[in-house]
Amino acid sequence: MDQTESTASNLIFAVNGARFELSSFDPSTTLLEFLRTRTRFKSVKLSCGEGGCGACVVLLSKYDPTLGQVEDHAVSSCLTLLGSVNGCSITTSEGLGNSKDGFHPIHQRFAGFHASQCGFCTPGMCVSLFSALVNAEKTNRPEPPLGLSKLTTWEAEKAIAGNLCRCTGYRPIADACKSFAANVDMEDLGINSFWRKGETDEVKLSRLPFYSGPKNQICTYPEFLKGECQTVMHLDSKQNSWHCPRTIEELQSMLELHMAGNGTRSKLVFGNTGTGYYKDEQDYDKYIDLRHVSQLSLIRRDHAGIEIGATVTISKAILALKEEFKGESDMLFHKIADHMEKIASGFVRNSASVGGNLVMAQRNYFPSDIATVLLAVGSTVNIMTGRRHEKLSLEEFLAGPPLDSRSLLFSVHIPCMGAIQNGFSAETGSRLLFETYRAAPRPLGNALPFLNAAFMADVSFSKTGVLVSKIQLAFGAYGTKHPIRARKAEECIAGNVLTVALLYEAVTLVRETVIPEDGTSRPAYRSSLAVSFLFRFLWPLVDSGAQIFKDGLDGCTDALMERTLALKNDNNDFGRIGNLEFLSSAKQLVESSREYNPVGEPITKSGAAIQASGEAVFVDDIPSPTDCLHGAFIYSTKPLARIKDVNYKSDPLPDGVADVISFRDIPGGGENIGTKSIFGTELLFADDCTTYAGQRLAFVVAETQKRADVAAGAAVVSYDTESLGSPILTVEEAVERSSFFEVPSFLYPTQVGDFSKGMAEAEHKILSAEIKLGSQYYFYMETQTALAVPDEDNCMVVYSSLQSPENAHTVIARCLGIPEHNIRVITRRVGGGFGGKAIRAIPVATACALAAHKLRRPVRIYLNRKTDMIMAGGRHPMKITYSVGFKSNGKITALHLDILINAGISADISPIMPRNMLGTLKKYDWGALSFDIKVCKTNHSSKSAMRAPGEVQASFIAEAIIEHVASTLSIDVDVVRNHNFHSFDSLNLFYEGCAGEPTEYTLPFIWDKLAMSSSFDQRIQMIKCFNTGNSWRKKGISRVPIVHPVQIRATPGKVSILKDGSVVVEVGGIELGQGLWTKVKQMTAFALSAIQCHGTDELLEKVRVIQADSLSLIQGGFTAGSTTSEASCEAVRLCCNILVERLAPLKRKLQEQMGSVVWDILILQAHLQAVNLSASSYFVPDFTSMEYLNYGAAVSEVEVNLLTGETTVLRADLIYDCGQSMNPAVDLGQIEGAFVQGIGFFMLEEYLTNSDGLVVSEGTWTYKIPTIDTIPKQFNVEVVNSGHHQKRVLSSKASGEPPLLLAVSVHCATIAAIKEARKQLRSWSALEESYLPFQLEVPATMPVVKELCGLDNVDRYLQRLLSR
Ligand SMILES: Cc1cc2nc3c(=O)[nH]c(=O)nc-3n(C[C@H](O)[C@H](O)[C@H](O)COP(=O)(O)OP(=O)(O)OC[C@H]3O[C@@H](n4cnc5c(N)ncnc54)[C@H](O)[C@@H]3O)c2cc1C
Ligand code: FES
Ligand code: FES
Repeated sequence: MDQTESTASNLIFAVNGARFELSSFDPSTTLLEFLRTRTRFKSVKLSCGEGGCGACVVLLSKYDPTLGQVEDHAVSSCLTLLGSVNGCSITTSEGLGNSKDGFHPIHQRFAGFHASQCGFCTPGMCVSLFSALVNAEKTNRPEPPLGLSKLTTWEAEKAIAGNLCRCTGYRPIADACKSFAANVDMEDLGINSFWRKGETDEVKLSRLPFYSGPKNQICTYPEFLKGECQTVMHLDSKQNSWHCPRTIEELQSMLELHMAGNGTRSKLVFGNTGTGYYKDEQDYDKYIDLRHVSQLSLIRRDHAGIEIGATVTISKAILALKEEFKGESDMLFHKIADHMEKIASGFVRNSASVGGNLVMAQRNYFPSDIATVLLAVGSTVNIMTGRRHEKLSLEEFLAGPPLDSRSLLFSVHIPCMGAIQNGFSAETGSRLLFETYRAAPRPLGNALPFLNAAFMADVSFSKTGVLVSKIQLAFGAYGTKHPIRARKAEECIAGNVLTVALLYEAVTLVRETVIPEDGTSRPAYRSSLAVSFLFRFLWPLVDSGAQIFKDGLDGCTDALMERTLALKNDNNDFGRIGNLEFLSSAKQLVESSREYNPVGEPITKSGAAIQASGEAVFVDDIPSPTDCLHGAFIYSTKPLARIKDVNYKSDPLPDGVADVISFRDIPGGGENIGTKSIFGTELLFADDCTTYAGQRLAFVVAETQKRADVAAGAAVVSYDTESLGSPILTVEEAVERSSFFEVPSFLYPTQVGDFSKGMAEAEHKILSAEIKLGSQYYFYMETQTALAVPDEDNCMVVYSSLQSPENAHTVIARCLGIPEHNIRVITRRVGGGFGGKAIRAIPVATACALAAHKLRRPVRIYLNRKTDMIMAGGRHPMKITYSVGFKSNGKITALHLDILINAGISADISPIMPRNMLGTLKKYDWGALSFDIKVCKTNHSSKSAMRAPGEVQASFIAEAIIEHVASTLSIDVDVVRNHNFHSFDSLNLFYEGCAGEPTEYTLPFIWDKLAMSSSFDQRIQMIKCFNTGNSWRKKGISRVPIVHPVQIRATPGKVSILKDGSVVVEVGGIELGQGLWTKVKQMTAFALSAIQCHGTDELLEKVRVIQADSLSLIQGGFTAGSTTSEASCEAVRLCCNILVERLAPLKRKLQEQMGSVVWDILILQAHLQAVNLSASSYFVPDFTSMEYLNYGAAVSEVEVNLLTGETTVLRADLIYDCGQSMNPAVDLGQIEGAFVQGIGFFMLEEYLTNSDGLVVSEGTWTYKIPTIDTIPKQFNVEVVNSGHHQKRVLSSKASGEPPLLLAVSVHCATIAAIKEARKQLRSWSALEESYLPFQLEVPATMPVVKELCGLDNVDRYLQRLLSR
């Protein structure tokens, strides 16, 4: 077929097989915006808008008419510009399958492996996997067994390495993905709803939803588009300002036009991923799309190297670099490709160009990996300005003036190994060595490096050792404008034989050279990384040659060098190199019980398949009503200031802005109220004065969300701080100024025993030790969102993603000054809450309602991630001072704590913090326990409940004290834990009234069982051996118990049976992903089956739980505190009991008449005979048993890399007591997900503010939640069924929050590893091996860990060798 060279003015593409043709479009529109606002395909979710989460991933397919081939790639639709999808086909998760046409096996396996909780990340995950499957099928690998794909397990895991999930902890997602892999071992796949115990691998495979190769099922590129793409390829739509030059000449003309300086603002674009980092808020007159200029996408390989066109994507460059040339592969290219695979994530690399990356590095000082790596190998670039081409070394290019907008990066040339070696005119028998390095918070899951490096050296053996004839050392991304060559160090090494002294001299020079610019975070750490990497590179060569000659192995052959390096690499302890799988096998042990069938069964989560296909409707998926407006908050950046004015440079309001709402718009009779808890309220908008940075000042309402966001960002706020005094920004200042929130006495915990007496009994004392803890952000994948729709007669319906519709209801009514019966708040599902949508979602809903009320138009909002992070508040930071007395054996006799909690500006739920904290702190028998806890009011955003609020901090504090005691006494920390374990009597004393029966105290049993199942003692010994034999990696292991009280609260329920026998249920609890609806369904089926008639075994399928509606079911309360599922279940059980009682006489009658009764007939008859088939209840727990204790324990093992500070969680074994779990699969999901969120808190997540308290960790670039590559490599969880608990709901116990506390074991294991590192460091420095107390901060990020292991550990090591 001939390709017609013509242009088209319309944009034509396909989405899920449907054709779209647009005659005009705003060129700044992203594909995501288009899909979400102009199509019905809402599976594509917005979560970060910066390429950092994967929620928006779609499959983008292009057709090459010349080759007749379709290319399919996952891309992030939030960064892809609509103009660039011309001629392309897009497949979203709905396109893979759906509830009507049948789900795709990907959806089914995600559901069956319990891999979807809230479901917000799931469609993106499914498409990422689908893309990997499609591309694996295109390879010429052997045909896989029936039902599997050509994908490998490693590729399956890697497919989702850049996708974030805040709920599941990834393990089940990895299983769902790996279930497609050709090399999967069925034994390695975890709990699922497909298999039964003891089945063979063949049967297991046959039970998985059948996969027959993606191509058979889905056409990713429709035929009609193949025909059309002959003409639509070259869109040139003048009215849209989107230009697609087809040749370099056309492009040159456009650039020349630009040079003529007619004042138009134009932008060259390819993948547009750069806007993920440099949020492009500027409007351009002209977009010049580079993708159709074929010369720019060429890859040419010859004997000198490889020339990569500027628009070659990073993914394609990786493939090209790995390709063999004339039957040989190039080690250097391979290593560059391996490094490139760590850049961003697959769905970014698929659209990000090499040229775009280098231009960003050159012009915007982007911390590029590519620039550093290519600098080390002496690459050159081809720059085109007008018709002039200029060849520059990459170094010259980077150092030159910023590339102006008239110039183009044409290509980059990377010399191959042979060419470099020739250039080096090396010694005979010399060998070229090349390595690249990067240290980043996540090994593969999308994180910019703290520093990257690439080194090349030409080396050969000589009689005295390894001679380095030439060396090139490049370092970048460490807080420098451009990557640099460490020339002084190069000169020092080149021409010399590598010795310890030379290496020491070189690392000293590198340390002096690699100095981050002012303002860079962790500068000393970054410099130390440079030293570490150089050491890592050269150390295997130091003294090697000499050793070999000494051993009589003369002759400098390549093979010998190979062997030397291999030996050194094997024996040394620098760590693994290469593509190991992220996760090794994991075990999940759950016991399902049939006593209350189907309660107790691990059934699939309700709605999981529609979550996977993207059909599940979240608030922002509700189609906008006619005339709908969109809101965005203008927030304060000052902690304490008078608001003089909120204004715009342009007057009147910016385009598309309908109004700017502030406290002045609150109607007469209404109140400026934004939140409410039992402890007080918070303003909706600051009035004349702002009292914290991040406070809501006003609400811009505009025609679209984008316009509202831009307008909110463009608002100019004038502040005046005169005579206002200083804000309170620290807890110390709060104490000085007595700024506290009152804690009601009934919530203040009670002290235990007599502290002075306990101290008097102590043989040792630690006095006034301090701990500080920071905050944590929720990072729910769905940011805060609401839609308010005015209704007749001054009523308002508000759809909101929140955990407390009842409270929002009251606040909205009070704000608008109208009766509560005029308000209806509806919540169907929440895309992750973790406490952040309990209180903090209310002002969002209220602001929409206020604007809708004023403007009489629907108003909605979907907060962008940055604003969400700035306003969210998050976990409570705190300062703890403790004094502890203890005996020589480690038994603690007394503990006193002074705790200052930073609660921020409003009370929110903060007064519960003392009670929560003490609840988990009492997990050990402290002898006597006294405390003074102050909830400080400060000029910060209000801190709120975040999963296990206060409890996780307290669990940490308890362990920190235990660690401190153990270190002081130099005894094993596990021994100290054992000495301070509660007996049942001491438990009863500390947890007066809620310890339950002695048989319910399962912690000692769990503790011992865990020691056995995790081979704790054996592993301690193995770790000791490992640590003795390894200088640069140290392992640590730790076993930690938890006790976590929870309280069950009053909750309503309503169950109605419809004529056809189907059942509809309403509960107070909200489905947040925690499986509440699933348990409620199980309970309904169980409780109704008490009627004992035929057909009740199918009841589960007949039950539907519907959205929460604050008018339909009042007194819904909060979904928080881990117990709402069981409370909702109990409320439903009460309803069902009523219905069973009402149906029983009829059933008896029918049975007498007919012999047996079928459910459907019974219900039909009941309707005919006017039996009331709707029952409501309000479950009020018995005051004496509403609080109970949860138990669990964890053993975690970590490995710390002493060169980089990286901590790898090698293994975690958890045992958790769920009582008699209502759904072990759901509870397992809660346990794993909570644990991984805890790892985030303890190890990764830094929620930082500036000196004014304004949050500066405001997106996925700086805030790193765990990804699949940072969870435990081996993750074993056992859900213990501890039998009957009379006072619990069907003997079940909570699972939502307590397991988060178990993650402290990872932190403690890290301490253990660091202790070993410090011991070694001291021995290197010839210091006595006495105890030096240290504290490991939370989060224990790489810089923090490295600092404790010694920023100068390499130097000290070398010094020691030199001094021998
Ligand atoms: C989430 C995420 C994570 C990332 N992580 C990393 C990382 O770890 N390491 C790393 O090195 N990089 C990383 N990147 C950067 C990424 O590699 C670049 O964004 C990408 O390569 C830019 O290519 P693009 O085609 O999308 O450029 P675009 O966004 O289209 O363009 C970027 C800029 O370059 C200009 N431009 C593009 N091509 C040319 C050209 N040929 N000549 C002149 N000007 C041009 C554009 O006008 C624009 O100003 C990450 C990016 C994202 C979004
Ligand atoms: S929304 Fe696109 S990657 Fe996060
Ligand atoms: S299920 Fe992944 S974010 Fe909720």
